[in-house]
Amino acid sequence: MQHDSVTPYNSKDSKKEQVAQMFDNISGRYDLLNSILSFGTHKGWRRKCVGILSAVKPQHILDVATGTGDFAIACAKLNPAKITGIDISEGMMKVGREKIQSLGLQNMITLEQGNAETIAYPDNTFDAIVIGFGVRNFQDLEKGLRNLNRVLKPGGLIVILEFSYPTNPVYRAGYNFYFTYITPLIGKIFSKDQRAYSYLMESVKAFPNNENFVAIMKKTGYVNTFYKGLTMGVAAIYCGDKPLK
Ligand SMILES: C[S@@+](CC[C@H](N)C(=O)[O-])C[C@H]1O[C@@H](n2cnc3c(N)ncnc32)[C@H](O)[C@@H]1O
Repeated sequence: MQHDSVTPYNSKDSKKEQVAQMFDNISGRYDLLNSILSFGTHKGWRRKCVGILSAVKPQHILDVATGTGDFAIACAKLNPAKITGIDISEGMMKVGREKIQSLGLQNMITLEQGNAETIAYPDNTFDAIVIGFGVRNFQDLEKGLRNLNRVLKPGGLIVILEFSYPTNPVYRAGYNFYFTYITPLIGKIFSKDQRAYSYLMESVKAFPNNENFVAIMKKTGYVNTFYKGLTMGVAAIYCGDKPLK
């Protein structure tokens, strides 16, 4: 699909390699920049997702594209038996493991190297899957969603949080200005990788959002799908279940 070809550095490396390299580069400043650029709203967005998950009381949760582990840490409030985080960037998970250790959550949360598109877990392993700002970075979105469906238990829930592109023209103009000029500038000052924060805007614009993303979820095997826009359409939560049979 067209959005799969939007890459961080436009180099000869695969999108997966470029994405892993970019997140390794910015891992030390990722949490700080997340808070600055979203004015802290990303925490509330993850809390909303956790509220949706609380209805199904999942015992084993998979956090895909866990990065520095914030979604996994937010899910700890549900007190599941186990949370497994996977990511392709070792640098991001190194920061995540330190946070998990400092919060005393190491017996509940484990972070390990893993690619959503080639995930090695057996079929029907997890009660729920969460993905925060990860699907946009997949090399092959449909392959990733299909594989995650495979490892979800029948009846299990997937909750995806992702940036969206506002439909209201006024919000859209403000959003374009902010992500085109302010985000790369702040990214350059704090992370020394301006390209990472230009890629953010390019990948959000190219990515299917709202009904279009829901259509891809249906196509890749999910049922009871819906989305909920957040903060003037800047982000969205997408939910779906794996069919019971
Ligand atoms: C923007 S960060 C999100 C981190 C975290 N989920 C959060 O909510 O802050 C995106 C993460 O997705 C990871 N990623 C991208 N493609 C992936 C894939 N195919 N499988 C696993 N992780 C992936 C990147 O390495 C990066 O750490």
